[in-house]
Amino acid sequence: MNRSAEMDKNPARRGVGRRKFLWTLAASGLAAGYVRGQASALGIGIDDITESTEPAATASPITSNADFFIRNHFKTPTINDEKWNLEIAGMVSKPLKLSYSDLLLGSSVRVPITLECAGNVSGGGGVSSAVWSGLLLGELLKQAGLRPGAATVVFHGADSGEGEDVPPGTHFARAIPVDKAMDPSTLLVYEMNGAPLPAEHGFPLRALVGGWYGMDSVKWLTRVEVLQEPFAGYFQRERYVALKSDGQREPITAMRVNSKFLRPSNDEEIRSKAYRVEGLAWAGERKVSKVEVRLDTAGTWQPATLTAPPVAMQWTPWSYEWHIPRPGQYALQVRALDDTGRGQPEMRDPDRKDPYELNTSQCVKVSVRP
Ligand code: MTE
Repeated sequence: MNRSAEMDKNPARRGVGRRKFLWTLAASGLAAGYVRGQASALGIGIDDITESTEPAATASPITSNADFFIRNHFKTPTINDEKWNLEIAGMVSKPLKLSYSDLLLGSSVRVPITLECAGNVSGGGGVSSAVWSGLLLGELLKQAGLRPGAATVVFHGADSGEGEDVPPGTHFARAIPVDKAMDPSTLLVYEMNGAPLPAEHGFPLRALVGGWYGMDSVKWLTRVEVLQEPFAGYFQRERYVALKSDGQREPITAMRVNSKFLRPSNDEEIRSKAYRVEGLAWAGERKVSKVEVRLDTAGTWQPATLTAPPVAMQWTPWSYEWHIPRPGQYALQVRALDDTGRGQPEMRDPDRKDPYELNTSQCVKVSVRP
């Protein structure tokens, strides 16, 4: 069956529905023996029924599924979750083939993670944050048994196409090193903010490589392939690489420290003498350690307040109480530092020839009315 509105309304026909049904039974105080009996009839271990269906509490703002940015190279594929399988193959001793319900019955984790597209422009909308549920890829790779020499883990997506210089028939695929794949920050997720992954965000399953730019979080995952050698797919070799003018190429990997304003927006008119400037800052695998704002180009940088404790892989909200000295035109800037002391660059490295990792500080222009 293809994913449809009917399916969403009828969760009992899906693995996730069975799991929620059992959780409801457990939470309703019914005899543990009855719940255990139901679980075993459905082939679920009682230890699997441990999580609430409520999204995890987080102090970091969450983007709704409807507002989450979308970056697709090709048309969204339609996937029938009952026929769909995930293969884990290549340099493993026990290749695995898992159905959607196999995944739903595995031991799940639920984590808030911020995703940014490598091509997001300074202050742009190509960054969002959601609470993701799924499995640790490392656990599945352990089950499959990595063979000696395994070095690269390739995520193959179901989507393919051409255009934007892409040769016809190219599938979207990206690879990460085995160390990152085994790290608990790399997940295979089937839920976004407590709902099954929306079609455009990768239903039924996507990779979620925490703290790395979005291109590695491959959607509509069909195969995880372990290689001894580097992966030479089109999106690995030709796209998402840092290009220097001497031809030197390096893969794009971890997200760089970055920040943006939520308010004011560009060209906003401000009519008050005091204004709460607000925004977000993030630093990939690192934590944000400091955010500073400059209220006009000739001014000095002022520390902003981090309004939630910084957490790696999640954006951190910040604010600054601006007491506006006089009416006029102002250019506001923001910049952040991560906990290694790395900051945002003043200007783009002129030697970079690619359109990625654009993390110079955002500037918004506002007019303050008398
Ligand atoms: N996975 C597949 N299969 N096809 C794609 O085009 N785009 C990648 C990544 N995964 C893509 C993909 C890019 S470039 C980004 S930034 C993220 O998905 C965006 O994820 P989102 O659309 O859920 O925000």
